[in-house]
Amino acid sequence: MPVPGVHEVLIKVAAAGVNRPDVIQRYGKYPPPPGASDIPGLEVSGHIAGRGPGVVQWADGDAVCALLTGGGYAEYCVAPQSQCLRPPDGLSLIAAAGIPETFFTVWTNVFERGRLKRGESILIHGGTSGIGTTAIQLARTYSARVFATAGSDAKCAACLALGAEQAFNYRTTDWVKAVRDATIGQGVDMVLDMVGGDYVARNLEALAIEGRLVQIAFLKSSRVEIDLMQVMRRRLAITGSTLRPRTPEEKGAIARQLVEHVWPLIENGAVKPVIHATFPLERAADAHRVMEESRHIGKLILTTAHASAT
Ligand SMILES: NC(=O)c1ccc[n+]([C@@H]2O[C@H](COP(=O)([O-])OP(=O)(O)OC[C@H]3O[C@@H](n4cnc5c(N)ncnc54)[C@H](OP(=O)(O)O)[C@@H]3O)[C@@H](O)[C@H]2O)c1
Repeated sequence: MPVPGVHEVLIKVAAAGVNRPDVIQRYGKYPPPPGASDIPGLEVSGHIAGRGPGVVQWADGDAVCALLTGGGYAEYCVAPQSQCLRPPDGLSLIAAAGIPETFFTVWTNVFERGRLKRGESILIHGGTSGIGTTAIQLARTYSARVFATAGSDAKCAACLALGAEQAFNYRTTDWVKAVRDATIGQGVDMVLDMVGGDYVARNLEALAIEGRLVQIAFLKSSRVEIDLMQVMRRRLAITGSTLRPRTPEEKGAIARQLVEHVWPLIENGAVKPVIHATFPLERAADAHRVMEESRHIGKLILTTAHASAT
């Protein structure tokens, strides 16, 4: 049984989200930061079952969803109080478990770092990933023109259903040309990329003047060769961030933004977490197989006995 430290709560877990970083951690390529649990799991939902010293925000029995630095694939886990949020009204605890990791990531990268503004255009790679399905929907609520890429025609259709204006199968389509054609040769204001490798130079080509490339992962390589002349000539910006090593205070600040700006969108139905499938916790390996084979659209969720009891 984990013991909550100062400003931490103990959560009785109902459900835990599965994220690509968990798979990469299993490969040994994404070690937990110092002090974090080595059990995978970056997000959960459940009920507060205990409180460490200094916890003022939460009471025993409160329902929460929470962003973790690890330890979510479990019946109990601990989280800093600042990283817990009340689940949006009307959402099941199972759906709420799939919110924190992707919504924190999309909010901070698309709206804070990428500064997406109303009416701008954005290209989202991995459009049917947990991150992609969240980014498409949130960008649409900003009336952005949304373009997405995905690895099959069926996945492209799912991107359109979520609100993308056009979606390009990257196996069959030159998405740089497609994006430039769709924007009358101008390119998009922002690219959200998790692929890296040869995508980086192509992303720069797909950007409009003053465009921003936001890098959140490198499914291919992080070592690339690009022509920085383009960055200078077209006044581009390249940025990115990782979420896991940020402090509880920084994550708490993102949590407050989400509750203020995004929770109402979930509660009025404008944004819905996309759940591909749920698995009992003891079948976590099956969920990882689905993710490794990229068979999913949206999120994979693990459930505990506590989920059925609530
Ligand atoms: N920086 C951060 O703070 C942060 C936080 C969370 C997650 N992430 C990263 O964000 C990414 C998405 O995470 P997730 O949990 O949403 O995972 P996910 O659902 O498994 O998404 C990965 C997506 O990438 C696509 N993909 C895989 N290989 C590709 C390739 N070679 N070219 C183009 N697309 C490819 C996959 O679908 P198709 O190929 O079938 O289209 C899939 O949609 C992960 O790389 C993760 O590490 C970053």
